[in-house]
Amino acid sequence: MGHIWLIGMMGSGKSTVGRLLADRLGRPFYDTDAVIEQASGSTIAEVFEHAGQTGFREQERAAIADVAGLPPGVVATGGGVVLDSRNVDVMKSAGSVVLLAVDVEVLAERVYGSNDRPLLFEGGDGTLRSIAGERDSLYRVAADVVIDGNGSIETVADLVEAACSGL
Ligand code: S3P
Repeated sequence: MGHIWLIGMMGSGKSTVGRLLADRLGRPFYDTDAVIEQASGSTIAEVFEHAGQTGFREQERAAIADVAGLPPGVVATGGGVVLDSRNVDVMKSAGSVVLLAVDVEVLAERVYGSNDRPLLFEGGDGTLRSIAGERDSLYRVAADVVIDGNGSIETVADLVEAACSGL
């Protein structure tokens, strides 16, 4: 039994669904953005500001590798984790990768007003749509399972739980 790695766009519900699912399964919950924040002593926005996106991605790769070695749990990843294929290899070798697929309109509602997502600072909806478009195939190639993440937290957690019980 390995990790359940939740991947998907900002606002796809990885953290909220992940926490609920971990609770239900009695397994630990990990959040790679939180791991980066703890390790660096900075918020994600500060990491972007000081180290740029390149520096952030290096720290993200280290966090994925660290979490891969922890006892099996449910992992919320950052939305850009699939940009580096090495992360995908590590995740696949340490469990199952589950994509929470959510329509851009729903994502936009959920992240509206978010002030902790540096990639959205400048752009708003257009940016969200273009990032989603650029990443769609990466998410789908990385995923062992694709879940409809448009529903409520409970519904999405049910779907992930059912899908993972068969893995
Ligand atoms: C990012 C998503 C964020 C965070 C960082 C970059 C992205 O995590 O890792 O701001 O590239 O999509 P969430 O998906 O939890 O918002």
